[in-house]
Amino acid sequence: RAATLRARIAGLLEAFPDHPRPGTTYQDLSALYAEPGLLHQTAGLVREHFRGTFDRVVAVESRGFLLGAVLAARSGVPLTLVRKPGKLPGVVHTVEYALEYGTDRLELRQGAIPPGDRVLCVDDVLATGGTLLAAAGLVESAQAEVAGMAVLVSLPGLRDGERLKRYDLLSLCEVK
Ligand code: PRP
Ligand code: MG
Repeated sequence: RAATLRARIAGLLEAFPDHPRPGTTYQDLSALYAEPGLLHQTAGLVREHFRGTFDRVVAVESRGFLLGAVLAARSGVPLTLVRKPGKLPGVVHTVEYALEYGTDRLELRQGAIPPGDRVLCVDDVLATGGTLLAAAGLVESAQAEVAGMAVLVSLPGLRDGERLKRYDLLSLCEVK
């Protein structure tokens, strides 16, 4: 069943070379989201994989919100949002991370995650890994623990292998 689901996900991906800029390939997941029940089933697979190891889901803005929300609901655990700069009110933890060109930042509300919580970090795609590593850094700023990371698609060639190694990463589909 898991293998069938993974194959279905792989079959629904659409790659757009040189989008949004030359040299990067955009992995479009629209067809996956359009398939009734597929995201729900996928979240079920992620939940099974990490069963009993997490207390909370952290989802990264913006495309990470989709799987993150469904996974938290299916797992019966709280959902916390990591957002792009300037979106969250109140006092925030901030982490800066390198992009292919320049840097970006992500934020988490202080106090949003209880210290010691075991957190599953979720996004749609893993490319360099910079985004998920930043999310993990925010979780750790809150004195919480990263129980694992889950993505729908990963691009192994670009993965920030060394820094990601210490995390338990589940990728449902690996694109060459
Ligand atoms: C994309 C994607 C991942 C990230 C992966 O998000 O949704 O979050 O890039 O790349 P990385 O592993 O090299 O960090 P993007 O920043 O384009 O924003 P969006 O989700 O708001 O579209
Ligand atoms: Mg994103």
